Amino acid sequence: MQIEPRVFSGMQPTGSLHLGNYLGAMINWIKMQETHACIYCVVDLHAITVWQDPAELRSAIRQVTAAYIAAGLDPKKSILFNQSQVAAHAELAWIFNCVARLGWLNRMTQFKEKAGKDREQASVGLYAYPNLMAADILVYRATHVPVGDDQKQHLELARDIAQKFNNDFRDQIIAHGYRDGVFFPQPEPVITGPATRVMSLRDGTKKMSKSDPSDLSRISLTDSDDIIADKIKRAKTDAEPLPNTVEEMAKRPEIDNLVGIYAALADTSKDAAFNLLLATSTDGPSLFTGFKRNLTDAAIAKLGPIRSEIIRLMDDPVEIDKVLANGAERARALAAPVMDQVKDIVGLIRS
Ligand code: AMP
Ligand code: TRP
Repeated sequence: MQIEPRVFSGMQPTGSLHLGNYLGAMINWIKMQETHACIYCVVDLHAITVWQDPAELRSAIRQVTAAYIAAGLDPKKSILFNQSQVAAHAELAWIFNCVARLGWLNRMTQFKEKAGKDREQASVGLYAYPNLMAADILVYRATHVPVGDDQKQHLELARDIAQKFNNDFRDQIIAHGYRDGVFFPQPEPVITGPATRVMSLRDGTKKMSKSDPSDLSRISLTDSDDIIADKIKRAKTDAEPLPNTVEEMAKRPEIDNLVGIYAALADTSKDAAFNLLLATSTDGPSLFTGFKRNLTDAAIAKLGPIRSEIIRLMDDPVEIDKVLANGAERARALAAPVMDQVKDIVGLIRS
């Protein structure tokens, strides 16, 4: 049976979105919405795997939704909703808890990073997080998942879960009319563009993240033009002479990061951005000033309108909640028949 192409992706409502979220993932979401049926989720159940203040969580769910719309996701073209409104995610995640193996989850590097030294104190949800992520994708039998580079390992796990489910229940799946034995597709990661891994502005070896204690390390989608300019001005560079080639630049994490960010913001190639760096450089300590000025202009041109739209949308939470309720209703309608078939295949009795 032919599986229709379908896109699914999500972000956690744990503070405001930053340039890494935007360039690593959202730019591709917006592009794919023109060519594919897309579902974009605010993954609130993932957020509560670590402690969230309830009032802040509620506000962050609305803010991420506002950011989705402000950045260009159209609730008429794509389905936009928050995860907890569609119970099928949690239901399928339980079944996947019984399919995935402990050994697989033990290899997840994000859990090790997030749990830190005191692993005994991490929530069970944080450990099982990748199973919920697999359920998010597979409850719609989605085939393409646009994400940043850091989600590669979780996507591999989702593929392993899909494969094991198909193998474990092969006979039932065939009996249900899937003659090739494929009930769940192998979801493909879509990790493309010049900035699939945006690094901290303070340390080119660390990824830009919501949880970095230094606000100077990231540009938020809600930062004012002045703050954007200041953060870029203070962004770390190094004291070496300019690299001669793009390959040479790859060994210079801070420079490489700024050039990649420029390319993504200006919708150009990394080669073209590198040429701009060479053309705008001057001798002496202000080597990068010209390039940083261009980068600031590009960032403000792209992010300024998004920021104003987020602020405008946040003024009307009732309207945001309506978008979420409407998206959730459409998502439920897609997930329900898949969940019914999963229950039949596994041998559960349903009404
Ligand atoms: P999160 O904020 O962890 O929910 O991430 C949402 C999306 O943004 C995921 O697809 C991540 O891979 C992507 N992402 C987060 N941080 C970065 C970064 N520094 N560079 C590129 N992509 C990122
Ligand atoms: N784990 C992803 C992140 O932290 C968020 C996420 C949850 C997700 N479920 C997903 C991404 C499904 C893609 C598809 O970035």
